[in-house]
Amino acid sequence: MSEKFIPVCEPYLAGNEIKYVLDALETGWISSAGKYITQFEEAFANYCGVKHGIAVANGTVALHLALVALGVGKDDEIIIPNFTMIATAFAVCYTGAKPVFVDAEKETWNIDVNKIESKITKKTKAILPVHIYGHPCDMEEINRMALKYNLKVLEDSAEVHGAEYKGKKCGSLGNIAAFSFFANKIATTGEGGMVVTDDDELAEKCRYFKNLCFPVKGPRNYQHNEIGFNYRMSNLHAALGLAQVEKLDFYVERRINHNRLYRKYLQGVHGIIFPMEEVDTKSVYWMNGIVVDKESFGLNRNELMAKLKQDGIDTRLFFTGMHKQKALLQYGCKCKGNFSISEWLEENGMYLPSGSNLHQRQIELICSQIKKYSKAN
Ligand SMILES: Cc1ncc(COP(=O)(O)O)c(C=O)c1O
Repeated sequence: MSEKFIPVCEPYLAGNEIKYVLDALETGWISSAGKYITQFEEAFANYCGVKHGIAVANGTVALHLALVALGVGKDDEIIIPNFTMIATAFAVCYTGAKPVFVDAEKETWNIDVNKIESKITKKTKAILPVHIYGHPCDMEEINRMALKYNLKVLEDSAEVHGAEYKGKKCGSLGNIAAFSFFANKIATTGEGGMVVTDDDELAEKCRYFKNLCFPVKGPRNYQHNEIGFNYRMSNLHAALGLAQVEKLDFYVERRINHNRLYRKYLQGVHGIIFPMEEVDTKSVYWMNGIVVDKESFGLNRNELMAKLKQDGIDTRLFFTGMHKQKALLQYGCKCKGNFSISEWLEENGMYLPSGSNLHQRQIELICSQIKKYSKAN
């Protein structure tokens, strides 16, 4: 990586990626059959501590497929965080159901579990928490509410490979979970996703719906009884995925270490706020998000991003709240209400370079530039 430009994130392909992809190419298994699909599914499900993994084309369709398997459809409501990436909401819309937004919690930036209950109605079918930027949500409270109101729980685990909540891996904490393997994710296949679950029936439904509703067992016929989707992953992508899972603990450790370094070098810098890590959780810091408080730092978030850009340091804005998304307004979502924490995050939050292949000296450099721009300097 060049010292002149530090990207927010680059894929880190440090293991058997080339070997496995070449093998897939040389043997001609380049489509959605082949040994890497099953090996990747088994290895990743095993990593998450669940029985089944169903590889798909990306994280967005993994969410949609999980919702379809849960039987979500028209007239249902699904509780989601207001502060998330649009894919969470869109996946709900694809089913015909309505996403219902809950504001974020100030400390962790995850869904505020204390605000979920007031949004539950007779139409609510599931809670869809998102482990934002790699930090596990308060799953005990979410599962308690799901039990009380007979709801399903789908974890949007796109950003959280390897994170743990009370000793269990994210992805194993609800009925079903969806992961993304986009290029900036902790494990990547370029484009890719996976549904994971312990539930045999849900897993079978996912396999059925992801492949145009061809029969999962028995001979293939061309009689289709339901509307299905082609969400298959190719063996080439799965070859990348298997190599990534083999080294996943290494990548996770690197992300966590980057966060330790950021916190260490930025300690005492007024106006730079990190999320709180709850006790009994292991956050994997997919991205190192910070909130910039202009009063105490001196510059606002946009000014700091502009300065860092001049220094060749790439950063990104935080998500825009779901209640402000025109697409969802047009779709008839209830966008009125108090989403003040999401708005605070959207206006003041940014994330710093976080890729697994960052070096300590680069983090040191980024932090020394941030310090230079603080008003205390
Ligand atoms: C929280 C969240 N959910 C879903 C997705 C969608 O994943 P993909 O880009 O693989 O479709 C993302 C992607 O970054 C995400 O951050």
